[in-house]
Amino acid sequence: MASSTAAEPISPSNTRLGWIGTGVMGQSMCAHLIRAGYTLTVFNRTPSKAQPLLDLGAHQAHSPQALASQSDVVFSIVGYPSDVRSVLLDPTSGVLSGLLPGGILVDMTTSEPSLAVEIAAAAAEKNCHSVDAPVSGGDRGAKNGTLAIFAGGDKDTVHRLEPLFSLLGKVNYMGGSGKGQFAKLANQITIASTMVGLVEGMVYAHKAGLDVGLWLDAISTGAAGSKSLDLYGQRILKRDLDPGFYVNHFVKDLGICLKECQNMGIALPGLALAQQLYVSLKAHGEGNLGTQALILVLERLNNVSLAPAASSS
Ligand SMILES: NC(=O)c1ccc[n+]([C@@H]2O[C@H](COP(=O)([O-])OP(=O)(O)OC[C@H]3O[C@@H](n4cnc5c(N)ncnc54)[C@H](OP(=O)(O)O)[C@@H]3O)[C@@H](O)[C@H]2O)c1
Repeated sequence: MASSTAAEPISPSNTRLGWIGTGVMGQSMCAHLIRAGYTLTVFNRTPSKAQPLLDLGAHQAHSPQALASQSDVVFSIVGYPSDVRSVLLDPTSGVLSGLLPGGILVDMTTSEPSLAVEIAAAAAEKNCHSVDAPVSGGDRGAKNGTLAIFAGGDKDTVHRLEPLFSLLGKVNYMGGSGKGQFAKLANQITIASTMVGLVEGMVYAHKAGLDVGLWLDAISTGAAGSKSLDLYGQRILKRDLDPGFYVNHFVKDLGICLKECQNMGIALPGLALAQQLYVSLKAHGEGNLGTQALILVLERLNNVSLAPAASSS
């Protein structure tokens, strides 16, 4: 199968896909593309984590470069900016060392806007295209194919990718390279204070002697309702603190946000507070829990527990 040209519409019959990063998000997202009939090659640092996708019919590559050499469009959703740099830009094993001219690279990791710009420039030098397309909607959004996708890069390329994005959720074109990342970071700033509000409300309701489950239900259709409440309210009540969305990744996101605030010369005190509270979870060795574990910080501050078995306050 030939590499896609700019004019060719993307479809299972003429587009070969590559997918790098088969963790909480990548696993579910990639499965949607395979189920839609695309020929797909995967690469993951821990090969065994790609097994469920191989069972669905994916092929496995031994490096990002090998994967790129047999793909027209390559997606990545790894952990940190350093991982993005390594899988995409490494001169001997990275995607850009293997992608043919006309190939498209779509990085869906939450990463640094400046890195997205750097990748786009490196891709252009090879006559390839690059789009930054981080997502929001959590593990549930990935499973259900209902993610919000924030795309930055060439508008025609983003438009051309629509048949693939629509299998994962809804794409929103935000502007040139890096603007997808900026949109996602602004999204994280909004979520940060929402999460603080959610767990503070829960502790307050608990101390006031309310049935917290009933209270969550009651507020969910009012002005305090939110996706964060829908995603995490019940998990907190059931003491399900599994990721979801890793605390470590949220600390990474909020750190990038704060760095950008410094560049912009703006003060966002809610962001700074949330970042400090999340850093304290890491300090307690809780970085691999889900972000709903913020309840633990508020419980420690107030010497209460919302855990089902306990009735401490
Ligand atoms: N989970 C969410 O709700 C959510 C929502 C929106 C955005 N995000 C963002 O999406 C990204 C992925 O999140 P996730 O929850 O899916 O994390 P995850 O479960 O840790 O998945 C990351 C995957 O990438 C692989 N990987 C990391 N570095 C790699 C490298 N250098 N080379 C090859 N593979 C590498 C990991 O391999 P291993 O298997 O070896 O660890 C893992 O399978 C993060 O940037 C996160 O901030 C997450």
